[in-house]
Amino acid sequence: MKEWTREERYRILQSPEEIRELYERVRLSPYRQAYHVQPITGLSSDPNGFALHKGLWHLCYQWCPWGAVHGLKYWYHVTSPDLLHWSNEGIGLAPDRDYDNKGAHSGSAISVGDELYFYYTGNHRDENWVRTPWTCAAFLDADGKLQKLPEPLFGPRDDHSEHQRDPKVVWNAEKGKYYIFIGAQTLDKRGCVLIYESEKPLEGWHFAGELKVPGYERFGGMWECPYIVHIGGKDLLIFSPQYTTLPGRGASTNHNVYFIGTMDYDTLTFTPDGPYRFLDYGFDFYAAQGAANVGDPEKAILISWIGLPDNHYPTEEEDWEGSMTLPRELRIVDGRLLQTPISGIEQLRRAEKPDDGVLPDACELEIQVPAGDFDLALFTKADGSGGQTLHYDAASKVCTVDRRGLNKRFNQNVFEVLDMPLENPLRKLRIFIDRSSTEFFVNDGEATFTTHSYPEENEHWFTHSAAKLRMWELSTSVTDEFVV
Ligand code: FRU
Repeated sequence: MKEWTREERYRILQSPEEIRELYERVRLSPYRQAYHVQPITGLSSDPNGFALHKGLWHLCYQWCPWGAVHGLKYWYHVTSPDLLHWSNEGIGLAPDRDYDNKGAHSGSAISVGDELYFYYTGNHRDENWVRTPWTCAAFLDADGKLQKLPEPLFGPRDDHSEHQRDPKVVWNAEKGKYYIFIGAQTLDKRGCVLIYESEKPLEGWHFAGELKVPGYERFGGMWECPYIVHIGGKDLLIFSPQYTTLPGRGASTNHNVYFIGTMDYDTLTFTPDGPYRFLDYGFDFYAAQGAANVGDPEKAILISWIGLPDNHYPTEEEDWEGSMTLPRELRIVDGRLLQTPISGIEQLRRAEKPDDGVLPDACELEIQVPAGDFDLALFTKADGSGGQTLHYDAASKVCTVDRRGLNKRFNQNVFEVLDMPLENPLRKLRIFIDRSSTEFFVNDGEATFTTHSYPEENEHWFTHSAAKLRMWELSTSVTDEFVV
């Protein structure tokens, strides 16, 4: 693994030409995704500024241009007319001000009339590397470019630690106010959310208080990337707690969880209806964010980073890593969260393939699972050995995904085998395979499992014990063009 000096990681990109050669090399990788948003070079991590505005979907991702390393972060901007086909738009936000000199960190967007506003964390560090996180804003100009406000909206609170970031902005019609939820840490290192409010999107912000979540006063050491939405008559609170292990999640200290409950903006209390749940049971899923302005009170649209902080992936050797998940639709039905692949994804289907054991690079599988135990092995060798396996145990209603059989193993010290417990018997699987990822959707949305997988040339077969399996090759829908 390459060792990066701080100077290398925090180098400012002066001209696109500095990464053109890297781009030309990276695009030849067999692991470049066909229908998932991915970094043009270097590293992509959290999704940022996700919104529908005047008929176009805007999305940015945390981007470090130089290689697969968490260094100086930019927002890289992509757009889509339909959440399926994505075009590269170039740098959204560069860390080019004093207040964001060491990174334009994560945040959100909101569409208000003709305007699209972005909120992000300006990660300032002084010469002693002491951090000051500023909450900053930008807007989309007439040319479709993000323009920063000259000054940050507000600075950090000194009654909390330096970990205050990832502004999620929402409008609350009942109160007639905008709110910003900020992921934070108390001075005694407990994860929490700070709330700010204003009647106007770009001015008048003041601190309202710390969010109370009864029963969760001590849960992880930092709550990164909060997201809140009101759908199906309930409130859904999502965040990424870190600096803690959680039952069933191996040695990982980074998680993405949610509560369904009720948000009271008078008392700044989110009352969960039940315990926290994992948003996704996979190995590589973090910092999920929903789109603003979806325009449907029943549904949210969510996207996430396929990857985890502090983890390492095989394409690091090629100087890039990370990808976004497929956008997914979230609904709350009978008090349960359902997550389904973005509607219209069927448009990417090409000819249906026979169920002959050969796995295309980019495909969708749809499996009707018979009653009883079930086995599936993806990316096996020609003789059916090895691969990434899923075993369903009908007695316990648990699916177990095991990636130890792949040639390329990674993050072995964190986890290679994980369980996905189900409430209902497994009856249906929709699986989206791209060149370096697999996403499982179970029982029309009951649970999901997202993982990176890097099959080698001799790992393009699969076996299963189902009676009926349908498979489609999927077309390429990301342009992967050099736009900086
Ligand atoms: C989550 C995170 C955020 C932060 C960003 C920096 O992965 O740590 O809290 O804003 O990444 O890239």
